[in-house]
Amino acid sequence: MAYEQVRLERRGRAALITLNRPKALNALSADLLAELTEALDEIAEDERIGATVITGSERAFAAGADIKEMVELDPVAAYRDDFLSGWERVAAHRKPLVAAVAGYALGGGCELAMMCDFILAADNARFGMPEITLGIIPGIGGTQRLIRSVGKAKAMEMILTGRTMDAVEAERCGLVSRIVEAAELLDEAVRVAQRIASFSLPAVMAAKEAVGRANETTLAEGIRFERRLFYSLFATLDQKEGMAAFLEKREPQFRNR
Ligand code: CAA
Repeated sequence: MAYEQVRLERRGRAALITLNRPKALNALSADLLAELTEALDEIAEDERIGATVITGSERAFAAGADIKEMVELDPVAAYRDDFLSGWERVAAHRKPLVAAVAGYALGGGCELAMMCDFILAADNARFGMPEITLGIIPGIGGTQRLIRSVGKAKAMEMILTGRTMDAVEAERCGLVSRIVEAAELLDEAVRVAQRIASFSLPAVMAAKEAVGRANETTLAEGIRFERRLFYSLFATLDQKEGMAAFLEKREPQFRNR
């Protein structure tokens, strides 16, 4: 499919999705979401791709849901059609997603970054939940994911006041995994995704699923879930290859089987 509001490129076994509405600071319109989910479906089906980087521009990862599109939102139609439900498809993507965030990640932009498995931040990144200043609240998971990521005090402060956080604060409180110089961000994010994609895809997907489960269940259930996935990986050829390669002191050749 030809995309306009996102760009999809392949870099070896990693994919790179670039949000591409620079004039609107990558505001997340319905069309952009449709293209993003289409691109992710393409990646899900592409056996060659093992992980994906989602990025924006140097000025903005994304400045939130498209306010111009939302201003006349009909609440009945929004409820009937579940206006925001398309975002669940992003969160449900089963291969790893790395958010490479430079510039603004506000509202829905910050929520999209948090739907990814981890965030690499450029030194100029700014995170925030300004919805309260518009008379609304976050609507694509922000109230639920931010508290799990940074704890109640910071989540409440950001959501109730609209205050933004710089990259240093975001790293300190665990919202981002690392800060990278802005000029290096994309190359580093692609390198990280390529490293993930060099491993056995079933193991990588199981790792993502198991860690993701921690937010949705009790510790005891989560540990049982992890153990079942752990046992199941011994049914893969890649487990045999990975361990044989270690014992034979050579590089493993994973086949995603
Ligand atoms: N929706 C639509 N258009 C947006 C936008 C958004 N979220 N954010 C920026 N734009 C547009 C601006 O309207 C402007 O377009 P025009 O040139 O046509 O006027 C263009 O992008 C550039 O923006 P600014 O001129 O405002 O740039 P700036 O550098 O002065 O400010 C900014 C940058 C601080 C990010 C500012 O644009 C801003 O505050 N944006 C809105 C942020 C926001 O409130 N996000 C939350 C949206 S609601 C949401 O996300 C709900 C949800 O959870 C589902």
